[in-house]
Amino acid sequence: MVKIAIIGTGYVGLTTGACFAEAGHDVVCVDNDLKKVTLLESGKIPIYEPGLEPIVKKNVLSKRLRFTGKIAEGVNHAEVVFIAVPTPPRPDGSVDMSFVEKVACEIAGAMIEYKIIVDKSTVPVKTGEKVAQVIKRYNRRKVDFDIVSNPEFLREGCAVQDLMQPDRVVIGVGSDRPVAKMKEVYEPFHAPIVVTDINSAELIKHACNSFLALKISYINAVSAICEASGANVEDVAHGMGLDKRIGRAFLNAGLGYGGSCFPKDISAFVHIAEHLGYDFRLLKEVQNINAEQIERFMKKIHETLWIVQDKAIAVLGLAFKPNTDDMRLAPSLDVIHRLQKEGARIRAYDPKAMDKAREILDGVEFCDSPYTAARDVDALLICSEWDEFRHLDLEKLRSVMGQPVVLDGRNVLDPKQMEKLGFVYKSIGR
Ligand code: UGA
Repeated sequence: MVKIAIIGTGYVGLTTGACFAEAGHDVVCVDNDLKKVTLLESGKIPIYEPGLEPIVKKNVLSKRLRFTGKIAEGVNHAEVVFIAVPTPPRPDGSVDMSFVEKVACEIAGAMIEYKIIVDKSTVPVKTGEKVAQVIKRYNRRKVDFDIVSNPEFLREGCAVQDLMQPDRVVIGVGSDRPVAKMKEVYEPFHAPIVVTDINSAELIKHACNSFLALKISYINAVSAICEASGANVEDVAHGMGLDKRIGRAFLNAGLGYGGSCFPKDISAFVHIAEHLGYDFRLLKEVQNINAEQIERFMKKIHETLWIVQDKAIAVLGLAFKPNTDDMRLAPSLDVIHRLQKEGARIRAYDPKAMDKAREILDGVEFCDSPYTAARDVDALLICSEWDEFRHLDLEKLRSVMGQPVVLDGRNVLDPKQMEKLGFVYKSIGR
């Protein structure tokens, strides 16, 4: 059992804290949002993440997981202090590191004995050096410490599984001293552990997210060629994916990547590279292709409907991907805003994200089922691939729609079946 503090209870901090507690560690999570602390203390969570709430509840009850607003309480409790605060993008694509810096100062001020300070937030390479300088400067009692980089690879929607059964754990260190304790933290998860230097660990995170985004843009570019040639992108991805060197994952063509990680991290990596004197042209093209996917989808809508003004359009799937209520940089937002600008009326449905969508979308009619959303519409769009949409009663759907027009931005439905049922059906790259 390791005594752990996690500073920041966002997606990464909260899930990590809960899973560490579940694995038997003694965890204190710190957040400066006291309302959130009170909510979490009652075992409730502010996000939709499958399987997370029961773990939080259980470990709060067993007192292995506690929440506080006081950073000193967390730091004094812990042998290992994790920093898991946001690193949001600045308007120019660079990373705003002010939250990490502030937390580092506060940790330094609270330390009274040796601590391992671990950065879990996604940060630019060389951040560890900066954090070490800050801690040295504000560490009045001159307490000994080590800095570790331990990037997180969890995906929203399957965060608990990703944390409990990680593909690997990356530990970046400046000396051998913190290695044994870090291995103890991760021992219950039985994952391969990569021990490296801090700069390499930091780079692994940006390199992974960028590579996954590259796979998505690659297949999206291939989908354009499939459309032009009459090939089927699903079959192409299947044929590619069986090659063990390539793998089928992240070869789903569609509206492109969104969310709080890929768009931000790819911009950051381009920016970091530029700062270090390298023009990362490959990644800039990944960004361009991603943006083009929305343009190509809009073009399909125009080709099908001709005039969008005064049309009623249903949008199924608002979250940036299935199994989350996260609306940050969801492709659906871009599509809806463009259609509204052209004078369309939008009726929307999402299994989990409607509360969050209501806060950011104006003039949209939110409906309690896919069929209510589809009632009397001129077209229906699918923007995220919730399982629920794979099992729609298509005859019922067609019977409620004004016009049987479906534009599937995530290749959820089967083109042959849709055609047989009398739909005008268009999808991506097939
Ligand atoms: C991503 C990474 O997958 C995680 O490993 C990482 O820890 C996380 O970012 C992070 O940096 O915090 P996440 O953003 O939760 O996780 O979601 P993904 O499942 O990676 O999907 C990202 C976007 O790519 C979604 O919009 C999804 O719809 C899109 N996508 C994914 C595709 O368009 N095609 C695919 O084949 C796969």
